[in-house]
Amino acid sequence: MKTKRLLWIIFAGFAIIIGLYPLVYLSAQMRNQGLLQTKPAELIQSKMYFAAFYTHITFGGIALLLGWSQFSSEFRVRYLKTHRVIGTIYVFSVVLSALAGFSIALFATGGPISSAGFMGLALCWLFTIFMAYRAILNKDLQEHENWMIRNYALAFAAVTLRLWLPFSQLALHMDFDSAYRIISWLCWVPNLVVAELIVRRKRLPLLTTVL
Ligand code: HEM
Repeated sequence: MKTKRLLWIIFAGFAIIIGLYPLVYLSAQMRNQGLLQTKPAELIQSKMYFAAFYTHITFGGIALLLGWSQFSSEFRVRYLKTHRVIGTIYVFSVVLSALAGFSIALFATGGPISSAGFMGLALCWLFTIFMAYRAILNKDLQEHENWMIRNYALAFAAVTLRLWLPFSQLALHMDFDSAYRIISWLCWVPNLVVAELIVRRKRLPLLTTVL
């Protein structure tokens, strides 16, 4: 029980810290800072790219900040209306952030491999939110929860990316672009596998004893 609580605190802690990270870009008007420093000048000057970038990070941050709280069954039972309101904001945030994320992925650091990784992530993020929404419209609570687990595991790519990056630099001493190409996939594919294990564990009582 203590381990479960600790894992929950770590999970929520990472979601909150990385969910607030876009504020760094928003508050200081860091036009040319962070990852943007690595972009060509023409891209930085493009209003379209900027609008997409800020839409992506703002709504991605909101999705990450809100999503974890929705998995507490206690909270859901007690405050069903709040769950619905937060859920609606979450769905809008995911759709906006994923569409914007898909478009800025065209210009991702590391070239076509990173672009494909982030585009794949954006498409899976959209697909899983669509499936979760459809399940709740059909009043299928179990499937709704399963798809939301997969969807939030993908949102959590924002966290895992920012864990893999320093690891690749500090522990493995990889060059940044090569590491980034690998991490554009590594930040979400394993998350999806973990989400699938969680979903199956709920379905198969046998696995519950193993995992
Ligand atoms: C799950 C779907 C997501 C996709 C497809 C995605 C895609 C991308 C892409 C393509 C970039 C630009 C990378 C580059 O130009 O090299 C980026 C950057 C960024 N994303 Fe996301 N992202 C996702 C989720 C999130 C979430 C949930 C957040 C919330 C914190 C977030 C926050 C950021 C930030 C702050 C940057 C700027 C780069 C940095 O400073 O690290 N993203 N994302």
